[in-house]
Amino acid sequence: MLNLKRRQFLAGASAAALLPKPALSLEMTEVLEAKSGAVSLVSSDYPDTQIWGYNGGVPGPEIRIPQGEWLQRRLLNSLAEPTTIHWHGIRINNAMDGVPRVTQDAVQPGDEFTYNFEVPDAGTYWYHSHFNTTEQISRGLYGALIVEEPNAPEVDHDITVVVDDWRLSQDAQIDPDFSQIHDWSHAGRLGNFLKATLTPTLTEVKQNQRLRLRFICVATDRVMTLAMLGMEGKVVALDGMPLDVPTPAELLTLGPAQRADVIVDVTAAQGEQAIIGFIGREDNIALASFDISGQASLARRPEIAPLPANPIQRLTSLSGAQIAPLNMEGGAMGGLQSGTYKGKQMTTEELVQNGQIWTLNGVAGLPETPLAEVALGETLRIPIINNTAFAHAMHMHGAHFQEVLPDGSFGPLRDTILIERQETREIAFTASNPGDWVFHCHMLSHQAAGMITWIKVTS
Ligand code: C2O
Ligand code: CU
Repeated sequence: MLNLKRRQFLAGASAAALLPKPALSLEMTEVLEAKSGAVSLVSSDYPDTQIWGYNGGVPGPEIRIPQGEWLQRRLLNSLAEPTTIHWHGIRINNAMDGVPRVTQDAVQPGDEFTYNFEVPDAGTYWYHSHFNTTEQISRGLYGALIVEEPNAPEVDHDITVVVDDWRLSQDAQIDPDFSQIHDWSHAGRLGNFLKATLTPTLTEVKQNQRLRLRFICVATDRVMTLAMLGMEGKVVALDGMPLDVPTPAELLTLGPAQRADVIVDVTAAQGEQAIIGFIGREDNIALASFDISGQASLARRPEIAPLPANPIQRLTSLSGAQIAPLNMEGGAMGGLQSGTYKGKQMTTEELVQNGQIWTLNGVAGLPETPLAEVALGETLRIPIINNTAFAHAMHMHGAHFQEVLPDGSFGPLRDTILIERQETREIAFTASNPGDWVFHCHMLSHQAAGMITWIKVTS
């Protein structure tokens, strides 16, 4: 092994610090190629599944980057249709947000686009297509994006758990019915095959080992309730952002796009198993199971501590805040009479002819004018009134918000909030990131069928 003397090492490192930062060089930038591929999705008893994925796999390559660094990726589009990449949950420079028509032109087949941005907050994020998303994400265009804390808590295994809900045919091929009006007007396009992909893979653990599990729900529409059996611990972060006070990790409910970081100690003993399970209405499904190969130590590890906080501004008060209520209507059993689409007032039938079923404040699809225009430093409150018969997972780009709880306190920082039917919930945040930011339902069938608006943050 190379035996560097400490002196030499310091001299080398400080010399390098004097050099200017290398300019972004295209040849050196890693590539994410959106293309078709074939993967063994179900098991070796089934044929390979034809997918669309980054670099041909699903999930796409996991990206890990230290907090505060610049992430550069060159998207090459080898699909037969346009695409873009959105970096979900990152407080990103608006031009890099990946929303076609809002922050960039869609990348045409054969074309490319280089994303280059700083990652200010540590945590569990993900990246995915933001073009024709009901189809492109259902086909597999997503991957995990992990921003590492400089002083991460000590664990024996740090595992990303990407959970998806696939709609497959008998021969394990993706069902191409991405835009059925029945799905779009109800709970979305739900699948028939749940799969958790663990990175790195893990099949064996020891009793009293500590695991960090980074759950990412990439399902287009399904809300997942997960349980951890033979493990005991705390939820330490939601949607990337550390909780001040970790909460017990028992049942975990994740709407589409939501994430949770969980730190658990293995309590199962040799001969037993530890299991990550999906809790269904009829069946429970083991998504992953670990054999126990002995004991790591006699005693449990010390108490699970909170993760270090991110440098993000939080709400202190609501005084002087602008209020922009958001009324959700439509869908099956919603009684929608009419709505505006592309500037035209339409009856429900006319909306449906245009593939639109849901409205936000009476408008289906991206409106011309934003839901609100706020200045930097201004606080925006959005009471969200779910006047529909279904749950919705509202996602804000470019910012994390907090829920204003009934007692006036503020909930944890999140980028996606799951709102049950007929529920009213209020979110608020102080604008700190200029640009045009979409705000939409991450049940992607609902987004495609109307549930999208935007917010303008002026500098
Ligand atoms: Cu994760 Cu607008 O999306
Ligand atoms: Cu929805």
